[in-house]
Amino acid sequence: MSYLETTKNVYKEAAENPQVGLCCTTTPVWQLPGLSIPKKMLAMNYGCGSTVNTRDLVNNPTVLYVGVGGGMELLQFAYFSRKTGGVTGVDIIDEMLKACKENIVEAEKQNPWFRAEFVKLVKGDALHLPINDNSIDIAAQNCLFNIFKQDDLKKALQEMYRVLKPNGRLVLSDPTCEQYIPEHLREDDHLRALCLSGSLPLKDYVEMITNVGFGTVEIRAKRPYRILDTINYNIEELIFIESVEVCAIKNPMPSDGPCVFTGKAAIYYGTDEYFDDKKGHLLQPNQPLAICDKTAGALKALNRTDIFISQSTFFYDGGGCC
Ligand SMILES: C[S@@+](CC[C@H](N)C(=O)[O-])C[C@H]1O[C@@H](n2cnc3c(N)ncnc32)[C@H](O)[C@@H]1O
Repeated sequence: MSYLETTKNVYKEAAENPQVGLCCTTTPVWQLPGLSIPKKMLAMNYGCGSTVNTRDLVNNPTVLYVGVGGGMELLQFAYFSRKTGGVTGVDIIDEMLKACKENIVEAEKQNPWFRAEFVKLVKGDALHLPINDNSIDIAAQNCLFNIFKQDDLKKALQEMYRVLKPNGRLVLSDPTCEQYIPEHLREDDHLRALCLSGSLPLKDYVEMITNVGFGTVEIRAKRPYRILDTINYNIEELIFIESVEVCAIKNPMPSDGPCVFTGKAAIYYGTDEYFDDKKGHLLQPNQPLAICDKTAGALKALNRTDIFISQSTFFYDGGGCC
């Protein structure tokens, strides 16, 4: 059986018997005024972060959500879009679509502002999305893409890129891991399906995203996720896994490579009125300017003694340089 088939079996089971603790992390669940999340929907929160961000949701966007789980994030997206078919959810597993539909119907009973028709559920595969080219403003996935092996991950990202409109946003939440994960764990299809052994280091994960053409990437959050311990996983040292929230923008690729924002800032503390790098970055004295890693590298290479560059916070919330 292929790992994709194992994955289907794992989530068929998780649809029929909700498993609290599958994926999930320390991310607080969005509580919004007038939003009531049905109990079963909450129990089926199989994500590892949040992909719902108000900053992405201006101008009434059309949202695509791939890998629906119990539907909690679809409901949260619908909270902002509030239009018929405003949120399309795609999932490959009939049982998951059925459970999600039931939760959506229950959500309609609990939320006077919500109508089940705000969410359209479609059967389909992340690797061959049943969605038109250039038709989506916000595409999201939470804790699915880490399961994919690299060729499939590339396909899944290409599919998201294809369906997004120009300047559309791909919002992702996935585990990442900076340590080497041994082959016996990587090739364990069940562990991979449980989002425990497929993670890439953050740099490689971001590179997969930019390689399909996204010109800007923002690392919005990074949190502790899981450990793989020496007793249960037949390994010699603990493996620490984190989860990240990332937004990738389908804007043109800059000629000198993608802008990846990891939360760095530059602060000029020289004697001039300001510092201008003549590439669009104007540093006012003692005012932090959020910069992408590429700009951080270029400023550092100037070897100036009057520009401070801060470390990545992995908490980038906008206002950048590029
Ligand atoms: C870890 S769960 C995450 C669910 C949801 N995103 C959440 O945050 O609760 C993975 C989801 O992806 C779905 N899935 C698995 N393989 C898929 C595929 N190839 N295409 C689309 N959906 C898939 C599963 O049915 C499940 O709903």
